[in-house]
Amino acid sequence: MSKPEKSKSKNIYRCQACGHESPKWAGRCPDCGQWNSMAEERRTPRRAPAAFQAPEPLSNVRSAAGDRVSTKIGELDRVLGGGVVMGSVVLVGGDPGIGKSTILLQAASKLPGPVLYLSAEESSEQIKARAERLRIDEGPIMVMPEINLEHALSEAGRLNPSAMIVDSIQTVYTGDLSSAPGSVGQVRESAAKLMRFAKTTGTPVFIVGHVTKEGMIAGPRVLEHIVDTVLYFEGQRGHSFRVLRAVKNRFGSTNEIGVFEMTDAGLKVVENPSELFLAERPMDASGSVVAASMEGTRPLLVELQALVSASTYSVARRSSLGVDFQRVGMILAVLEKVAGLHLAGTDIFLNVVGGLKLEEPAADLAVSAAVVSSLREKPVAPGTFTFGEIGLSGEVRAVSHAEARLKEASKIGLKNAVIPWGNAEKLNGKAYGLRITGVKNVHEAIEALF
Ligand code: TYD
Ligand code: MG
Repeated sequence: MSKPEKSKSKNIYRCQACGHESPKWAGRCPDCGQWNSMAEERRTPRRAPAAFQAPEPLSNVRSAAGDRVSTKIGELDRVLGGGVVMGSVVLVGGDPGIGKSTILLQAASKLPGPVLYLSAEESSEQIKARAERLRIDEGPIMVMPEINLEHALSEAGRLNPSAMIVDSIQTVYTGDLSSAPGSVGQVRESAAKLMRFAKTTGTPVFIVGHVTKEGMIAGPRVLEHIVDTVLYFEGQRGHSFRVLRAVKNRFGSTNEIGVFEMTDAGLKVVENPSELFLAERPMDASGSVVAASMEGTRPLLVELQALVSASTYSVARRSSLGVDFQRVGMILAVLEKVAGLHLAGTDIFLNVVGGLKLEEPAADLAVSAAVVSSLREKPVAPGTFTFGEIGLSGEVRAVSHAEARLKEASKIGLKNAVIPWGNAEKLNGKAYGLRITGVKNVHEAIEALF
């Protein structure tokens, strides 16, 4: 990072690490010693506001969460909490090339126009080319190739759009600061300005933020606490599906995910993600188990794989992708101690297929099943799935949403369920066309699965 030009308006520099304020820029914070952490900020004179709002009974305040507009893209609406809230600011973060511009352009075409699309990194022709490829209704979209935020906001004030899209926050700049676009100060001040615009006009604003490599410093992270909703777009290289995940939502749940597939003509909603995530599952292979998990209010069946092999190193290697490492350690300890498995001296690798995350304890049984299956080189019978939490003494505990998990599994044609006894007991004979085995501990679970 080089020293920015001297600011005309006397702005200040603040350390992004410790908050130290200084009238001068420095390569290293004089207070905490962090390098490259001083970012320019606007010095705002603190005048007393001329008008202020008197207190009022909370019961008189109109609920804003009710005023939503549908993007007509079911999975996007779901992740937003049922459409976008008027006057809210939504940050859409993700790696470059993941599909942020694509999904927002698709959404823009479905909103009641006009929608102001501020394109600060692509020309109008590039946006046009994308729109043609997507074969969307271009009617409501007003495209503005501009990097100066003040110009864009003055046009927005004139146009009074039904929504505004800023693509991307790292390429726009506000004249209030002299630092370069993409710097921490610029990114934050620009987002704050967009926030004020959204709140005063009631216009929903979508902000695109690229996740920057290692640096992270001016990436979407620095905006998370400013905006109302943060969505991350994730996907794996070489795979066409994309998962949209809410990590912060002032107007909805943060557990929801939306699943899309990137096709030749843009992002398509995946109606049945369970089928997609199990599509390439090897039949009759040891170490592969189907887990019935929940993502927010949605049941999702995913494949969990384990590879257990004799270690050639003095310290055995253990790694887990998509399941919590600490939790896996606990499950392995239970398997050794309670089920008498010999895992010392083995390398153990766990992976949730499709880059998904299984972060609930209900995945415990699937983790142990995958490990046992790989260790014994015995496949789990096809059409079998499992869920359940494991306690430290090896007991299997009931989990929430058992029926939703069972229904989803039945829907995609699975046949056998190995589930906590506590859940099986409450089904009162309902089986959803499945053969259900309730188990009380890991012994019984291993019995039932192999
Ligand atoms: P884009 O939305 O430009 O990504 P971002 O804004 O997050 O950087 O998507 C870019 C990728 O998506 C690019 O590799 C091309 C691909 N793509 C398709 O496969 N189909 C499509 O219809 C479109 C528009 C893009
Ligand atoms: Mg883009």
